[in-house]
Amino acid sequence: MIKHKNIFQKIAIALTILLSTASFAQAKKARIVEDFNQNWNFKLGDHPQAINADFSTADWKNLQLPHDWSIEGAFNKDFPTGTKQGFLPAGKGWYRKTFTLPKDWESKSISIEFDGLFKNSEVFINGHSLGIRPSGYISFAYEMTPYLHFGKQENVIAVKVDNDAQPNSRWYTGSGIYRNVRLVAVEKLHVAHWGTYVTTPKISKEKASVHFEVTVENKANTEKEFKFVTSIVDAKNKEVANVVSTEKIGANTNSKKTHNLEVKNPNLWDTQNPYLYKVLTKIYENKKLVDTYETPLGIRFFSFDAEKGFSLNGKPTKIYGVCLHHDNGALGAVENIHAVRRKLTLLKEMGANAIRMSHNPHSLEMMQLCDEMGFIVQDEAFDVWKKPKVKNDAHKEWDNWYKRDLEDLILRDRNNPSVMMWSIGNEIREQFDSTGIAITRELAQIVKNLDTTRPITSALTENVPEKNFIYQSGALDLLGFNYKHEDYAAFPARFKGQKIIASETVSALETRGHYDQPSDVVKAWPVKYGEKFDGNADWTVSAYDNVKSFWGSTHEESWKAIKNSDFIAGTFVWTGFDYIGEPDPYPFPARSSYFGIIDLAGLPKDVYYMYQSEWAKKPVLHIFPHWNWQKDQEVDVWAYYNNADEVELFLNGKSLGKKAKQNDDLHIFWRVKFEPGTLKAISRKDGKVVLEKEIYTAGAVSKIDLKVNKSTIKNDTYDLVYVTVSIVDKEGNLVPNADHKIDFEVTGGGKLVGVDNGYQAGLDSFKASSCKVYNGKCIAIIQSNGKKKDIHFTASGVNGMSSTVILKVE
Ligand code: GAL
Repeated sequence: MIKHKNIFQKIAIALTILLSTASFAQAKKARIVEDFNQNWNFKLGDHPQAINADFSTADWKNLQLPHDWSIEGAFNKDFPTGTKQGFLPAGKGWYRKTFTLPKDWESKSISIEFDGLFKNSEVFINGHSLGIRPSGYISFAYEMTPYLHFGKQENVIAVKVDNDAQPNSRWYTGSGIYRNVRLVAVEKLHVAHWGTYVTTPKISKEKASVHFEVTVENKANTEKEFKFVTSIVDAKNKEVANVVSTEKIGANTNSKKTHNLEVKNPNLWDTQNPYLYKVLTKIYENKKLVDTYETPLGIRFFSFDAEKGFSLNGKPTKIYGVCLHHDNGALGAVENIHAVRRKLTLLKEMGANAIRMSHNPHSLEMMQLCDEMGFIVQDEAFDVWKKPKVKNDAHKEWDNWYKRDLEDLILRDRNNPSVMMWSIGNEIREQFDSTGIAITRELAQIVKNLDTTRPITSALTENVPEKNFIYQSGALDLLGFNYKHEDYAAFPARFKGQKIIASETVSALETRGHYDQPSDVVKAWPVKYGEKFDGNADWTVSAYDNVKSFWGSTHEESWKAIKNSDFIAGTFVWTGFDYIGEPDPYPFPARSSYFGIIDLAGLPKDVYYMYQSEWAKKPVLHIFPHWNWQKDQEVDVWAYYNNADEVELFLNGKSLGKKAKQNDDLHIFWRVKFEPGTLKAISRKDGKVVLEKEIYTAGAVSKIDLKVNKSTIKNDTYDLVYVTVSIVDKEGNLVPNADHKIDFEVTGGGKLVGVDNGYQAGLDSFKASSCKVYNGKCIAIIQSNGKKKDIHFTASGVNGMSSTVILKVE
């Protein structure tokens, strides 16, 4: 009997899978989502006539989106973007594209989706303005149907971008349509844009209840009856829950429909195992499938506690986070999922489990990968409200757009399981005066109207309760404090019963591979506010973690304070990566920031391994600096390590002694009289060797070494391969002070799209076909050009040497 039942159950399951896959295949046709990035024309300047059909773009550039024109320009200290934006050009530009649509799309509803463009856009279709959008970060869509031509007649879409009023940001923004664009064609009856909302009100080991809401839109002039199917599929696309109902909707209207489902024995999403389900929505009209829609679903629960900090799925979890700006180094603001994946992979390997989207909506790819790779997200809406930080910043659009911009962020991201905090602002000026109270309450209400499942926070600088009006509004669920780690100990008494996160920490400075001796003196800049930074003539900063901003700390100081404060949910270090702009404390030619744990090229600085030794599970032993110094010079050798009782250092086989971290030390160091040769460290636990590390004095330059982050590339015009170029001696040791200029050549299915060496004061273009290695290294970024031909990447230039790497195209 039982056996039979099982067989029947199996057949039923197989049928359900078959049916759901079959209908999903059809479903793809029901909703057409097309990449709309190809074949745009672009020209700098103002070209209002471009909206007309007979306009000629003969002298415009042809390009593929995403595109950032600022990164293509030369640095100039007189540009009005100035130091905050890295001295790159801004201005105005127009994009234009012609396209035809199939005749049989006439009955459809067609819209265009922009993931983000910087900024002040106006979009025109066949001469009609679809709308303006001042925000440079929010994603938006326009319905185009009434103005479109079908069949042979061409359509003209023109996009005006105005980034002229400068300065308008405290960091590099880029200019243009720097994120993806899609064309979406659906039947008249369909799921509205960002029209779904999934929550998991109750989760236990045995089951999770899933509440699902859909806004269905009927653009037809008649009332419709439809079948509405919600199914949940697991990570293997196997259906695990399903509900069907019959619904009605009036003509030309929207209507919210809900379904409640249950997932048995749910696989929970967490940062180690980010298990994702999907909710599939299907709409049938008279048995015909007219729309399908996919919503990500991660089943997890979390809480912030005033004493115990953060927990995920009931497990105490410290938030190991970094703040990120949106630029992709040498690519500028151009968004590319492969660039984002590389950044997040580096951070994951460091042990980070969280990202703060500073200080604005980031891309859909970033949100998707945080879901897929297991990062906890603080999603942030604004850097300014009504009061400006720089002259032409987003305060100008506040009155007309704050509500819409905030609502759109919540609607766009509320289904991403990675999002666990909404931040309504960073270091907002209104925290200092009573106008902050009403605005905070209003913004919090806007968020709560759309999502009540995440706490609302704001990154505050003022930590005296009477002086902070955002805090006094009483509308924050989670207090975010930036910097001032010395004050943490006072918080439990000062903010009784409040939940707290260190929303921004550190702001220490380093240049990768540059070491000033000695290392045990911590320098703050400026020593007093307004004083000039007494730095290096070549605009470098030592990479021993011992130079900090006066409002911040070294990495170690902040991390120790957070580690020892259970009531603090975690940290967001400023920043994961160097970013373009904000090169403080130096003036021009410094043009990118020094705050990153990883440099602008994506090459880790040493402090990366301090975090890895604390945050990652794997054993770590990292010693630095390099081993090329003057004879008898005193050199400080640091080691970051974990999982061991002690580390012993040897120079040319002679022990320099064993050292162990005392109390809450995060590194150990030896002061060593330099002699060339081999420096070796051995970490031991209970007398047994855990890890060994050796560094050698490099000899003469002998070779260009090329390492790729992957050896195949898809011929899809988007895929990226990052090549790390190092100058090495004949044994393969990095020559740590090499500064040779390397020329690059790419043939076959790829093109060079960016070069960088991480040096914060370099003025060579990120788009050049050569790059000077800095402290021995640089990177080159290759992008697929769509041809199915193996790529030969050649780097040459050092004493007539050259090296080639071949990438297979898939
Ligand atoms: C913070 C600010 C960040 C960045 C940082 C540099 O105060 O929130 O955006 O400017 O300082 O240290």
